[in-house]
Amino acid sequence: MQTITLTRPDDWHLHLRDGAMLRAVLPESARHFARAIIMPNLVPPVVTLADAVAYRGRIMDALPEGMVFEPLMTLYLTEGTDPADVARAHASGLVKAVKLYPAGATTNSQSGVRDLARVMPVLEKMAEIGMPLCTHGEVTDPQVDIFDREAVFIDTVLDPLRRRLPALRVVMEHITTEEGVAYAVEGGDRLAATITTHHLILNRNHILAGGIRPHYYCLPVAKREKHRLALRRAATSGNPRYFLGTDSAPHVDALKEHACGCAGCFTATNTLSLLAHVFEQEAALDRLEGFAAQNGPAFYGLPVNGGKVRLEKRPDPCVWPKGIVTENGPVTVFDPGFPVYWHVAT
Ligand code: NCD
Ligand code: ZN
Repeated sequence: MQTITLTRPDDWHLHLRDGAMLRAVLPESARHFARAIIMPNLVPPVVTLADAVAYRGRIMDALPEGMVFEPLMTLYLTEGTDPADVARAHASGLVKAVKLYPAGATTNSQSGVRDLARVMPVLEKMAEIGMPLCTHGEVTDPQVDIFDREAVFIDTVLDPLRRRLPALRVVMEHITTEEGVAYAVEGGDRLAATITTHHLILNRNHILAGGIRPHYYCLPVAKREKHRLALRRAATSGNPRYFLGTDSAPHVDALKEHACGCAGCFTATNTLSLLAHVFEQEAALDRLEGFAAQNGPAFYGLPVNGGKVRLEKRPDPCVWPKGIVTENGPVTVFDPGFPVYWHVAT
């Protein structure tokens, strides 16, 4: 039997939601991951340091006895965000980043930014104090084709912003294109990109060919095969600019399987096994630890975790529940569509 032992990984982009959903999904991440960057797109969003402290408290209260997990909080950038509050949040040590959602780009982004000029004082303060900006990198202009929205964001928003504020530290969240892969290495240690598990597995045919698969619909939407291959090369390259952010984003099935279905793939349950499968396919199992456990902490200036996880390749395929149960209804677990033999042993 083949085994690999990794430093316990972190998830640098995770949606935990709140209330009953939080209680249901948190153990799925805490089982394997030591820490996660917690997305602030609740309704209403997590905007201030006080909001983040309160949300962090609710996460810790929802953590089952005996599990150890550290939520790394983020603030949702709005046009009303106070630079002084962001500075206090940074100094508190509890809040690790500020999240930019262009208004209308994705789930619960209505409170996001319409005009970047209006948040420039916040961004200037962040550049000064070294607080990273996590970006949902898609333009929202209805004229721009949804498959082009990431590349257009890089050219028209991200690159001009980084030229204006070269000291600003930026994480390009959940990149999905070869343009994103290429741009992420341009900024030295002030720029990085997270890559999801599902974008290493899906291209747009998986969503649309032979019937519409709502559980494969997420934002940014999966692109052509050449982009998936570029993401695979990036994730398995060993380059420290790329690291794991699952973007595990639970929605109850009733809202996924809907005339206007929600975006998001729920991958917390099986991400580690899927990554081992992908990295083995790319003959890069030795680089999984960098991607999932080392490159993220290095960018965020945090120590790597002390614990370990062991993965075993067994003859029998992994069997995951089809979905997890929540008080609001079932949430379908991401189905890669192929058997996976890498079991998480510890
Ligand atoms: C996320 C969600 O559901 O909150 N959805 C998604 O498709 N990824 C929001 C996001 O990260 O864009
Ligand atoms: Zn997300």
